[in-house]
Amino acid sequence: MNSLASRLVPKTVEKLIPYQSARRIGGSGHLWLNANELEKSCQYGAGDGEYHRYPDFLPHDLANAYLEYCRGTGDALRCEAVAVRGADEAIDLMIRTFCQPGADKIMICPPTYAMYEFCAESIAVEAVKAPLLEDFQLDMPAITRQLADTKILFLCSPNNPTGNVVEQADIIALLEAGKETTLIVVDEAYIEFAPETSVVNLIEQYPNLVVIRTLSKAFGLAAIRCGFLLADSSVMEYISRLIAPYPIADPVAEIALRALESDGIQKMRTQSDELISTREWFAEEVQKLAIVDTVYVSATNFVLIRFNDEECMYNYLLSKGIVTRNQAHEPALANCVRISIGSKSSMLETLNALKEYN
Ligand SMILES: Cc1ncc(COP(=O)(O)O)c(C=O)c1O
Repeated sequence: MNSLASRLVPKTVEKLIPYQSARRIGGSGHLWLNANELEKSCQYGAGDGEYHRYPDFLPHDLANAYLEYCRGTGDALRCEAVAVRGADEAIDLMIRTFCQPGADKIMICPPTYAMYEFCAESIAVEAVKAPLLEDFQLDMPAITRQLADTKILFLCSPNNPTGNVVEQADIIALLEAGKETTLIVVDEAYIEFAPETSVVNLIEQYPNLVVIRTLSKAFGLAAIRCGFLLADSSVMEYISRLIAPYPIADPVAEIALRALESDGIQKMRTQSDELISTREWFAEEVQKLAIVDTVYVSATNFVLIRFNDEECMYNYLLSKGIVTRNQAHEPALANCVRISIGSKSSMLETLNALKEYN
């Protein structure tokens, strides 16, 4: 009861009784007339299956399959998992569960994924900034100074849009420093491209650590909207109060469960290996161009490129029909463009377009 999570959670959430959906209440019987569903499915077309009943209020089989995938190499992973509608929902849930609008603060380390700040500001929670250093590592003194006043510190590793992995020693030092005051969320959306850098195994030792994952990146399932939040049971107790009833649609759970079978995981790993070799080839070729200042080292499925030309290369590539992500709005990322790694032929076309400009 005296966990950090219970001390951080606002009174309003502490008092909440989770919505009692029909599936959560459960029961046993042979006629199910408790959820205002149809008893029979309407067949609207091929493949729409038996979708007339609400899904599980929380799909435990999916959460367990994800934990099994995390254990993978035999590590004894002691934490809980919950499936959510993409990593974005996990970010939003963390902020809504632990931050009091108008009173609490989160901390972010820009340039980083924009949703942490957006979700916080959308409910009047201040996002304090401790910008990354020039090498895109954490500014430890700046973070440590403000840590005790921060409900949640969001770290992203590997980081979007810079592509680098955050030093694990720094994460551990912050988990120690924030043990009594701060939840530290590590967003590992891109972890499959650098699996050895995951901190998920530290949750057992540090109940103030929360890890966010997704099937949108290496698993290639962005359209199904499925992510996971991994945390100690003391944190999960409060997350499960605010989570939407029935967050995961049945077709989503079916596809996600298939992806998390050993065949699916193997496919994902083979694809990731191919992507990484395309990324390394593309980065090496692009770095040779005179218009390129730096291709930053990446542990993700994208590369961040700093051009040395004033002309916006994002617009130039757009004029060639190649849509990338302009990063010039970030103070630290002048002349930078983020390019996702596609097939070898897509990257060859992009490289040729850059050579043409060159
Ligand atoms: C760092 C990071 N976290 C989370 C997300 C969102 O993932 P999801 O598609 O699972 O909501 C993204 C998407 O680009 C991301 O880059």
